[in-house]
Amino acid sequence: MLLLCVGGRRLTRGPCAAVQCPCSTLPGPRPCLAWGMSPHESPSPKLGFALRRFAGPARFAEQREALGGSPIRIAHLTDQHFGRVTSQKVQLEAIRLANACAPDIVCLTGDFVAHSCGHLDALIEALSRLDAPAYAVLGNHDHWNGASEVRAALARAGVEVLDNVHTQLTLKGRRLNLAGVDDSYTGFADFDRAMRGLDTRIPTLALAHVPEDADRLWARGAEFVLSGHTHAGQLTVARLHELSVGKVAGHRYVHGLYGDRKTAAVYVGAGVGASVFPLRAGERGKREVAVFDLGIRPGTLAEHHQEQPPLKGRPPSAKTKAKRRARVHKNAAKRARRAQARDD
Ligand SMILES: [Fe+2]
Repeated sequence: MLLLCVGGRRLTRGPCAAVQCPCSTLPGPRPCLAWGMSPHESPSPKLGFALRRFAGPARFAEQREALGGSPIRIAHLTDQHFGRVTSQKVQLEAIRLANACAPDIVCLTGDFVAHSCGHLDALIEALSRLDAPAYAVLGNHDHWNGASEVRAALARAGVEVLDNVHTQLTLKGRRLNLAGVDDSYTGFADFDRAMRGLDTRIPTLALAHVPEDADRLWARGAEFVLSGHTHAGQLTVARLHELSVGKVAGHRYVHGLYGDRKTAAVYVGAGVGASVFPLRAGERGKREVAVFDLGIRPGTLAEHHQEQPPLKGRPPSAKTKAKRRARVHKNAAKRARRAQARDD
């Protein structure tokens, strides 16, 4: 086993079993990837988390080779769904794991709520515990249940929401663009606005709730897109998720890496929570905290998997898109009526 140093943390020698490192959650024999985590920092097996680590796209590695410095570490959480279906214990475990990886920034790709904004205090309590600066985009459930309330709660937790905009960050002495596109499932994405004026001399990381938004973000200059929305299908035994998320729901990108990190790629996170049923089964369906080391060349880390070919997919019809958007207005009207009734 290797002795590595990541982010100033000393990594230990020894078999996975002794350290219970994150890669003990991965199938088959592989080099141990202990990141200096003590057993109490590793994922709690009871809560069903996987902690997955990947290298970033080649462009970030080229930048690092030219300018020096250590890799920029990104922790990615998605589909937290604060609400009755997902316990606060699970939410806090996700935050604890993200902090234990010592990221430079944390990226959150939407669906913060499930069926109401009734658990925003829990959201604020959990997200306020993140040690690193956090950036977010909203998902369909956020728009269906009150985007302005979710945005306000995120602001209170110290999370910056990137609503069809990009910003420039300097991390480890190197600049990168960080772009965020609002939810396309409910019709709020504006790709041109998000990427207008992008400085293409530096690499770009983009956030989008819906994985297929990557196609449009790649076309506008993003090398790497982090997304969610699919929950990896939650039930992934016998490749059930490829049927439910791929064939039935029409997604081309279901879980994990797609595209090509030599040019442009997307990662679809399996998510932390759930909106309908909490059950998760199969290795791919585990709750997930994903970590990306931008500046490490693809192919030089032992990873959970490499880029996968996309499924066939099926884009939503105009009627389906209109229905999803209409639900935003219908729900808002319902909330307004309820508030009015309370005031009367
Ligand atoms: Fe979701």
